[in-house]
Amino acid sequence: MTDLAQLEADLSGRIAVAADVAALEAIRVEALGKTGAISELLKTLGRMSPDERRTEGPKINGLRDAVASAIAARKAALEAAELDARLASERVDLSLPPRPERKGRVHPTMQVLDEMIAVFADMGFSLAEGPDIEDDFHNFTALNFPPRHPAREMHDTFWLPEDARGERKVLRTHTSPVQIRTMQRLNEKLPAWIANGQEPPIRIIVPGRTYRSDSDATHTPMFHQMEGLVIDRAIHMGHLKWTLDQFIARFFETPAVESRFRPHHFPFTEPSAEMDVKCDRSGGDVKIGQGNDWMEVVGCGMVHPNVLRNCGLDPDQWQGFAFGFGIDRLGMLKYGMPDLRDMFASDVRWLEHYGFSAFQAPNTSTGLS
Ligand code: DAH
Repeated sequence: MTDLAQLEADLSGRIAVAADVAALEAIRVEALGKTGAISELLKTLGRMSPDERRTEGPKINGLRDAVASAIAARKAALEAAELDARLASERVDLSLPPRPERKGRVHPTMQVLDEMIAVFADMGFSLAEGPDIEDDFHNFTALNFPPRHPAREMHDTFWLPEDARGERKVLRTHTSPVQIRTMQRLNEKLPAWIANGQEPPIRIIVPGRTYRSDSDATHTPMFHQMEGLVIDRAIHMGHLKWTLDQFIARFFETPAVESRFRPHHFPFTEPSAEMDVKCDRSGGDVKIGQGNDWMEVVGCGMVHPNVLRNCGLDPDQWQGFAFGFGIDRLGMLKYGMPDLRDMFASDVRWLEHYGFSAFQAPNTSTGLS
């Protein structure tokens, strides 16, 4: 066999069994690349005599064409086989039964939270937040709890160990400290705002986790509150009552609900009240807005002048009202859940039963859903 015939036989043998496109490319470079065996042969043509070139030229060119087309043919075959394999492996069998889809559920507390936010947002409230670990000043002192007063004990506080400065932080016992943080910010910005001729009122709601060392059917060590705070000039109790009445009617999806204020005591409000709404307890569930019984739903009052002063605001210039809801408790009332402890027991069966579908727009809002 001549050298050329030998080379051709060798190359076409290897091309025929090249396992994939990469192996084929390696053979192409080896034969037809810049310094490939066939390229080197082509270079020899230049040094040949015209007679030699006439006989050798067609043979070498023929070899190059034969090898190039063998490579192209093998490449097409390999690519077709690869596509066939993919089509076979990715075939969808439409006759198979669908796999069961496990969808998560929205926890009732989060659903109720969204509903509450929607109603208050429609009334022009914005959201504020604060830390779960608070200092004594924001959780108690600034809110007018006197030092060593039993009111501090009233909250069954979780105290953290003393820090290097001898200070004991607390797991916040209520969302009220965010009132203080927000009013302090207002006080900081006030001079600039007044200079600009704009004095925005504060209108915030503060949803969040709160903590007290307590556990029974209506208490859990962690629960959720929603604080409300309005600070402006010439705010009075009529504004407070209207706001809460509006909220209750829309949240419980009833026409105007009869409500009453019962005098109460909170250190940070004066006067303080608890608001009750008319309800019917004759059946198994409590029905808000019907019947002749009363149900306590929220603590509230006018912001105490001492609290305003503690935040650097002049009580002769600024007044406000505040309220504090138990979010989980409102959820229990609206959706008939009997035991608060179940809400945080992480029992998936409970969540399947009481949970909500995702992205369910709260139907309590006309403006935001
Ligand atoms: N912080 C109170 C509590 O946890 C709830 C509360 C009552 C908040 C009256 C208020 C309020 O802002 O005015 O029991």
